[in-house]
Amino acid sequence: MADTDTNVIDGLRAIVGDKACLDTAADMQPFTTDYRRLYHGKALAVVAPASTQQVSEVLALCTKHGVPVVPQGGNTSLMGGAVPDASGNAVVLNLRRMNQVLEIDAVNDTMTLQAGVTLQAARAAAETAGRLFPLRIGSEGSCQIGGNLSTNAGGTAVLRYGNMRDLTLGIEAVLPDGRVYSSLRGLRKDNTGYDLKQLFIGSEGTLGIITAAVLKLMPLPSATAVAWVAVKDPHAAVQLLTQAKRTAGQAVTAFELISGPALSLVLASMPQQSAPLPGVHDWMVLIELSSGGDAEGLDATLMAILEQGMESGLIVDAAVAASMADARAFWLLREEISDAQTREGGSIKCDISIPLSKIAGFIAEASAQVLALAPDARMVIYGHMGDGNVHFNPLRPKGTPAAEFLAAHYTQVSQAVDGLAHRQNGSISAEHGIGVAKRDDLVHCKTPVELALMWQIKRTLDPGNLLNPSKVLPLPAGTDHRA
Ligand code: MLT
Ligand code: ZN
Repeated sequence: MADTDTNVIDGLRAIVGDKACLDTAADMQPFTTDYRRLYHGKALAVVAPASTQQVSEVLALCTKHGVPVVPQGGNTSLMGGAVPDASGNAVVLNLRRMNQVLEIDAVNDTMTLQAGVTLQAARAAAETAGRLFPLRIGSEGSCQIGGNLSTNAGGTAVLRYGNMRDLTLGIEAVLPDGRVYSSLRGLRKDNTGYDLKQLFIGSEGTLGIITAAVLKLMPLPSATAVAWVAVKDPHAAVQLLTQAKRTAGQAVTAFELISGPALSLVLASMPQQSAPLPGVHDWMVLIELSSGGDAEGLDATLMAILEQGMESGLIVDAAVAASMADARAFWLLREEISDAQTREGGSIKCDISIPLSKIAGFIAEASAQVLALAPDARMVIYGHMGDGNVHFNPLRPKGTPAAEFLAAHYTQVSQAVDGLAHRQNGSISAEHGIGVAKRDDLVHCKTPVELALMWQIKRTLDPGNLLNPSKVLPLPAGTDHRA
């Protein structure tokens, strides 16, 4: 190990304490590999600061020595955004020790918390105060608020409540040179110049490290009604959504599309779970309504939506959750799709958003293109149709090894799906971010002006290119990632 490396590690230990600074390969392994085990990096050290002051000192030290820093929350990124590359020269800065809810202001409807609080803990803290923090994603037990912010996370309730950008009133972030930017004021109106917090939200730790946030709280719903519905096809699903919004308005909280192969995959990996309807249908939707009104009224609204859908021939069959336990069981089937794919291995993840008016046509056309390239692929298609986001994840056929399927099809399939989405005014990353997985694809879907602006902002805030280097920004031709 070079003298500088030893100096840096000694300096890090002095800042965060011995126990919070790991530097053996074995100790660092959980932090240098992503949770899907697709990205395996190396690090100089993994540190877990306990305060904003310590984050600031770590960044100042690393900047002084030109050492890259990879910020990390729950390490649940699907895009390889939270692990270091193979060079071994970076420090991973994990936020898990900064896990305090600092304040809940029930009058202002806000919650101030440190970045390392898990989403589950944040939701529970809000609930204890009789409020809802509405972000809902399957990995809520592991993912952290800082990671949710840095990727502008979305999930299953965006249709009603918006994504992380919409739910945030202020953040605190540490810049590479150690300076601290803070807008932790909890204001719903503040037109005093640029909205700087939005630069950091969604920047995947490439501009600064988010250490705290003020989040919006909502009223806790008093009634929830959930149905699992088999629909004719994705066109019918879109029409059903339109009818549901007309009938129930704001109460439509979630509207998730699920393809037959997606449900089959989950049922195969959870044999104790049964399907809500007899048989696995080609296309299903999970609908959730919620409101502050009475449960009977909401149940009646859901029934009206379903009856109308049946009458107009959109719905093939439907099961209404008769209890909270039923509703949880329906949601479990939906939320397990992601982990079932991870266990199965060999899925090509495309995270598309597209105007709702085009989404059904997109699914049909993208499916045809993928099946022309990989005729036996299992079409695991699902996601947050209500907000225009579909996870389009062709999966290896049973019996074909994951590596073989990915080597044969990953590039062509993801280019076909992403290319089609881009041509239809869609996005190639609706909610998962860019990380390294989609970094080089940005050149095909951002204009030269957008890319130049992104690099200009990056160079202004991180002139040494030390924060999460080689993530998000595609390299300008002829440069390496440190240039
Ligand atoms: C989900 O909605 O389950 C995840 O965002 C999708 C995924 O893991 O691909
Ligand atoms: Zn999702």
